[in-house]
Amino acid sequence: MSLMIGVPREVFPNEKRVATVPEVVEKLIKLGFSVAVESGAGDAANFSDETYRVAGAEIVTGAAQLWAKSDIVFKVRGPSQDEVGLLREGGTLIGFIWPAQNPDLMQQLAARKATVLAIDALPRTLSRAQKMDALTSQAGVAGYRAVIEAANAFGRFFNGQITAAGKVPPAKVFIAGAGVAGLAAIGTAASLGAIVRANDTRAEVADQVVSLGGEFVKVDYEEEGSGGGGYAKVMSEGFQQAQRDMYAKQAREVDIIITTALIPGKPAPKLITAAMVASMKPGSVIVDMAAEQGGNCELTEPGQAVVKHGVTIVGYTDLVSRLAKQSSTLYANNLFRLAEELCKTQSVKSDGIIDANMEDDAIRGLTVIKEGNVTWPPPAPKLPAAPPAVAKPAVAVPAAKKGHGHGGSGEPMAGNKLAIMFGVAAALFWFVGANAPTAFLAHFTVFVLACFVGYMVVWNVTPALHTPLMSVTNAISSIIAIGALIQIAPPMAEGMPPPNEWIRWLAFGGIALTAVNMFGGFAVTQRMLAMFRK
Ligand code: NAI
Repeated sequence: MSLMIGVPREVFPNEKRVATVPEVVEKLIKLGFSVAVESGAGDAANFSDETYRVAGAEIVTGAAQLWAKSDIVFKVRGPSQDEVGLLREGGTLIGFIWPAQNPDLMQQLAARKATVLAIDALPRTLSRAQKMDALTSQAGVAGYRAVIEAANAFGRFFNGQITAAGKVPPAKVFIAGAGVAGLAAIGTAASLGAIVRANDTRAEVADQVVSLGGEFVKVDYEEEGSGGGGYAKVMSEGFQQAQRDMYAKQAREVDIIITTALIPGKPAPKLITAAMVASMKPGSVIVDMAAEQGGNCELTEPGQAVVKHGVTIVGYTDLVSRLAKQSSTLYANNLFRLAEELCKTQSVKSDGIIDANMEDDAIRGLTVIKEGNVTWPPPAPKLPAAPPAVAKPAVAVPAAKKGHGHGGSGEPMAGNKLAIMFGVAAALFWFVGANAPTAFLAHFTVFVLACFVGYMVVWNVTPALHTPLMSVTNAISSIIAIGALIQIAPPMAEGMPPPNEWIRWLAFGGIALTAVNMFGGFAVTQRMLAMFRK
């Protein structure tokens, strides 16, 4: 019997999202699950019961009935007190849980012998986990919506225009914090034609800001801002002072400020003071995305849009819900990808038991309670997100370590380990050289060199460029066309029979297919690289 995934109606006030959407219901059913949706669950996101029914879901009236029949419950927000009571003993719950902020909830869920997968606890630096990264998908929606809210409250165009009725200067937008939400806001504001500037304590995001059409504004103070795992750390007092000076200058110059600065588990840093707000031009707008964590602006009122000193300060905490159809669809896809991962475990199909595979880094991170045992926090990640910068120039550190940013993997290898590996490889090579036939040795040498060069190339390319790298290597692999060319017109020696017609036609087909690979590969690479140029 297939496992039943239940999707209740969200009960958190003003929450309009739903944890799955009809198109994903179909995919879940294909995967082998049954799906039950509480009547009215998708109403606020414009998905009617009927659309779920057509997709193959069973519509259940009443939360209690829905929870009772669900082996796995898909939710957006963490469960309310009532919902914890409804969760089936030993059941599985997947949704935003925020284990660090909700220790009581964790205890209650553990007491129900539940298995809980907190989608917010996904290790975000694992590239394999990106498809499940709901924090990213939702923050992207929030960043977009923040710009739309700003545009709504702002009395002018975003783009500069020269019209018969006069010249309109472009709006200037400053984005504080270029994480996921910030980058989405930068892209959206730039595409509307505004002049976009952004700042972040993590210097490594500067390139991303530029690639999205923004200008990175540096704080005039040297300090590394990365706290590991792709997140920031609390900065020194000296840095904060320098940052305040820079923000004060931006506040006087720009029309719109969108703040998204956040350090997980910490109150939001207060970046925009009341004095800065007062210094802004009348009619300016601040959208404080960190309102829920106390706000990046001193004058923010969470959940409200208020006007202070002539500046509209938007502190909505439901930006994602304001685009419920979009955010629900992205979230549903994230959960579908997670369901796919869970299906890899045999026990799901054979015994109908979700056995969260604790050997898998992504699933290990997500699983905050397993069969009633709290498994959060997970062990520290094996490697930092980015190699730590060479801190003290006084210590002799080989310069070659710099600039090898490989998200999620850190240094290629420690010196000792590398030396041992090279030693073993050299010994093996000698052994092969001493025993193998000469013809084999030539090919083998080329093979080993190719592996080495390939490894070094891939390791030294920024992860963001791996896809274009793959398409260009794909194009280069079209070197096999040479083999086909030789088959079509082989070098003829005196007295040799002419080549077989069949072979020549096959070689011709080979060349045609390789040409697609070759030209297609380069064309795709060009298009992808163009996205980074702008
Ligand atoms: P994130 O962790 O990806 O980005 C936060 C960024 O702020 C990081 O790049 C970090 O380096 C930067 N930062 C931290 N301290 C800073 C400082 N002092 N100065 C400059 N930059 C600093 O987080 P994400 O997902 O982009 O979310 C950003 C904010 O948006 C969070 O506060 C989140 O709760 C909020 N959010 C709000 C929503 C709403 O409806 N209002 C919806 C979704 C997210």
